Amino acid sequence: MWKKQLTVLTVGDPRLRLMAEPVVTLDRPLQTLIKNLIWTAEKTNGVGIAAPQVGVAKQLFIVASRPTLRYPHAPTMAPTPMINPHIVAHSDDRTADWEGCLSVPDQRGQVARWREIEVEYGDRHGQMKRQVFTDFVARIFQHELDHLQGTVFTDRVADPTTLLTEQAYFDQLDSMPAIVTDHSDSLA
Ligand code: NI
Repeated sequence: MWKKQLTVLTVGDPRLRLMAEPVVTLDRPLQTLIKNLIWTAEKTNGVGIAAPQVGVAKQLFIVASRPTLRYPHAPTMAPTPMINPHIVAHSDDRTADWEGCLSVPDQRGQVARWREIEVEYGDRHGQMKRQVFTDFVARIFQHELDHLQGTVFTDRVADPTTLLTEQAYFDQLDSMPAIVTDHSDSLA
């Protein structure tokens, strides 16, 4: 089967700011899109990618956590397509940690995310899945879910002084402060 690396849109492109529509049919073009999104994430060292990032305003993303050049400490899982995904429940605590995005080249910043989430999504065969994700995988899910609502991680950086270039990020990786956990449950 042919696989195609798709062009990833970068910030400034208005298509990244659209609300994605629910997927209603699991047709052949959608299966091709899934295959190409997985391939594109692999080729770009991404641990996740959402359909709006390639100009398709549909509620679909791939979570593909694995150690990469960009995320050397990521846990490994099979690339998982998630269709019409949503969060069912979440922990009270949020964790601030570093994020980057294929659509925001050369930037890293700290974003607070729910530490643990229970999610629902459809798989590529239309089967509904309910799963609990924690830490880095929960972070990927929340980051990708944002893309379906026209939001990118820099919108959620609470402290803009944490924004770094990738080079500065890698230079400082060893001397960075430990992850900050926020136990406040008043944030939504
Ligand atoms: Ni992203």
